[in-house]
Amino acid sequence: MQNKILEILTNSDDYVSGQDISEQLGVSRQSISKSVKALKEKGYKISSVTNKGYLLISVPNYLNEQGIKKYLKTAVIGKNLVVLDTVGSTNDYLKSEGSNGCVSGTVVAAREQTKGKGRLGRMWQTDKDDCVMFSFLLRPRMSPQEVSCITPLAGLAVCKAIREYTGLDCKIKWPNDIIVGSKKLVGILTEMSAEFDGVEYVVTGIGINAEHTSFPEEILHKATSIFIETGLHIDKNEFLACVLNHIENEFVKNDMRLSESALKEYIELCATIGRKVTFTRQSKEFSATAVGVDSDGELKVRLDDGSEYLVNSGEVVVQGIY
Ligand code: BTN
Repeated sequence: MQNKILEILTNSDDYVSGQDISEQLGVSRQSISKSVKALKEKGYKISSVTNKGYLLISVPNYLNEQGIKKYLKTAVIGKNLVVLDTVGSTNDYLKSEGSNGCVSGTVVAAREQTKGKGRLGRMWQTDKDDCVMFSFLLRPRMSPQEVSCITPLAGLAVCKAIREYTGLDCKIKWPNDIIVGSKKLVGILTEMSAEFDGVEYVVTGIGINAEHTSFPEEILHKATSIFIETGLHIDKNEFLACVLNHIENEFVKNDMRLSESALKEYIELCATIGRKVTFTRQSKEFSATAVGVDSDGELKVRLDDGSEYLVNSGEVVVQGIY
């Protein structure tokens, strides 16, 4: 009921009378007034004026469905949107929704995760409302091998959205972090469910450090947030909508592939290229320079003798970032 009232108020620029709302929802004016009171307690600013009704003034600065939808311009991504107060992991939640048949483009965001997952079995831990955390699910018609382009494409979209929304000069740290200077701002974790012949669904989870004023000692030298970099408390709902708009735009424009133009943009924004790397092949360690990324998202490296190799994230250590 609260969501329905919010929807009505969000869609109106003027006061909506209690009578109108109660007729639309088929409930008493008394229960409308109770729900409005509950919404005010949650941080929604709603003006109530006798003989005029209710006007939504502002929504609280924590992730919520109405707040995001107000700025969402997509046709697919986030059309089915769930925002949870707290969840184990948005990736795990969405994988289970995926197995139950949820539509392609479903987005699950959360204010808090109790079992947030990072890559390589690591944890992703932040305090409530500090991080903009969400996952989106796609059902692409592609083979499991082709899924490797989803993460770089998502990284490109998120990097462009952050640059546009905050003005930060953030870059992509191949394969899937976004950094400012030499510190991590965003982590991305893609998981999939597939058979031999095709993908059932792909879930990409993204955590963007937003409100942190500091980090634990162990990661202080390698993590940063939008607030630390800009001094701004962003509107997390408007910001997440902007990120989702960019994701849809990038995925539609490039037909879910690292197209020539997406790859060009990725490479322009990639901080790894030009850096020294070491990689291991057949138990031997090589020093090289990162010189490019191919259309499968693999890193192209060049040895001093001019020979070139494609390496994946498991084989390579990039010098000088973190
Ligand atoms: C990494 O850098 O190691 C990847 C971090 C990915 C974190 C996000 S937060 C939303 C989504 N849910 C998870 O459990 N993990 C991803």
